[in-house]
Amino acid sequence: MPDQSKWWQSGVIYQVYPRSFQDSDGDGVGDLPGILARLDYLAELGIDAIWISPIYPSPMADFGYDVADYEGIHPTFGTLDDFDRLVAAAHARGIRIILDFVPNHSSDRHPWFIESKSGRDAARRDWYVWRDAAPDGGPPNNWISEFGGSAWSWDETTGQYYYHAYLPEQPDLNWRNPEVAAALLEALRFWFARGVDGFRVDAIHHLFEDENLRDNPPNPEWVPTMSPARSLIRTRTMDQPEVHDAIMAMRRVADSFPGDRVMIGEAYLPITRLMAYYGVDLGGFQLPFNFHLMSTAWNAQAVSTLVETYEAALPAGGWPNWVLGNHDRSRVASRLGPAQARIAAMLLLTLRGTPTLYQGDEIGMTDVPIPPERVCDPWEKRVPGLGLGRDPVRTPMQWDEGEHAGFSNAEPWLPLPPSLEGMTVSSQLQQPASMLQLYGNLLRLRRAEPALSVGGYRAISAEENVLAFERFHQERRLLIALNFDDHAKTLPQADAKTLPRADGVGRIMLSSYLDEKASARRSMELRPSEGVIIELE
Ligand code: NOJ
Ligand code: MG
Repeated sequence: MPDQSKWWQSGVIYQVYPRSFQDSDGDGVGDLPGILARLDYLAELGIDAIWISPIYPSPMADFGYDVADYEGIHPTFGTLDDFDRLVAAAHARGIRIILDFVPNHSSDRHPWFIESKSGRDAARRDWYVWRDAAPDGGPPNNWISEFGGSAWSWDETTGQYYYHAYLPEQPDLNWRNPEVAAALLEALRFWFARGVDGFRVDAIHHLFEDENLRDNPPNPEWVPTMSPARSLIRTRTMDQPEVHDAIMAMRRVADSFPGDRVMIGEAYLPITRLMAYYGVDLGGFQLPFNFHLMSTAWNAQAVSTLVETYEAALPAGGWPNWVLGNHDRSRVASRLGPAQARIAAMLLLTLRGTPTLYQGDEIGMTDVPIPPERVCDPWEKRVPGLGLGRDPVRTPMQWDEGEHAGFSNAEPWLPLPPSLEGMTVSSQLQQPASMLQLYGNLLRLRRAEPALSVGGYRAISAEENVLAFERFHQERRLLIALNFDDHAKTLPQADAKTLPRADGVGRIMLSSYLDEKASARRSMELRPSEGVIIELE
């Protein structure tokens, strides 16, 4: 199995948020030539694939997640030629390109929706989800948009409501109409034919809603400091059974192209429900995103239970994956603090399964406070003050200490943090023990050690808030021990004994402190927030 492993199994995925990665033309917004200019950085870092958030023509009501043309490039990002150049240059460096696919909804300015709303008997009327008003004239049911407010918007001209899981500017496509499915699958073909290696499929758990429009039940645990959408339990609007056929159809398109194309699904679901997204006979997503590291309590016991539960739930042959951050969630260094963010990095890159890391996390970027007048995220604008806004995690990449952090020669669309000290790529390349060096070391080790990339996983212990586990491949055995506490630990004898054949002694290949690569340790002593990778003899 390991020898035939696919690139999306052994490799590491790096998410590029294109608006904030690198600007090349001085408009304060990142673009494709900017990504191209930074490919050497990514190759040097040691990642295997980049997933680029949407780059399609869009009014940018949700910063590209409102697509107005599934087969084009937004001028802010460049041209199709720029895109082709980027694919060629990435492939020349052995880096795969994964695009974002947004099938649940289009922009309200997409020609399909413009036509759909032009009249009740318009040819594409049924491409979106239209319904009559309730008898009182209000929306057809109680469904709430993810970004707050009713999920139904009234169309004056045709006298009906349309459904949108997100913004009114993001009307939901009607996947029950086979023409809709066909048109969207065609868009996949368009990009696969241009050399794209895979897709991350947006909001897949929202693809279908209950056909009978039954109300969602109230959530007794909701309090007003939570997102309004969570005041209902979304049993009728999320994770409907019909979604799986649609996913399998997407996968068949991917498989109809040569090479190993990958389909990755975005679904925030409990582990038990997530497993169905691998599809019948693994014919669904190869990688249904596993977001649970972002929400699990940060201690060795909870993480160990999560890993066990996830490993045990995987369908036979299903490949695991782990995500530590993305453009929607608070940054890992803000959630855990700088010391534990290093433990998180080591965990992400030593667990069994494909890791996805988010741009900027490799230098430990933290959430950047956004002054009210610079808020961009529509979620923050519609539901202010609850901390739902995602601008803080989408600020520009901090490349160097120069003007605008080397991101642009103009004022960036989102602000930079007040201080860049020690928090740029260029400064961390000079610091021997920086977060960037840690990521670089981990990525190099992962590439060199099949035990880490494609090997097996064996739990050892989660006692004393130290997570210890083994990764193995053929004769090779590596012990990973992560101290989730900010004080020193010595693993009790009982645990040391469970270390198979190691007798508690081994060569430290890597410490998260980056200061003692080759020393032997008599026992499992760990400094505060230290993680180690030990070669077992
Ligand atoms: C999930 C995306 O990651 C998020 O940024 C977006 O707002 C929603 N889906 C809607 O497309
Ligand atoms: Mg630009």
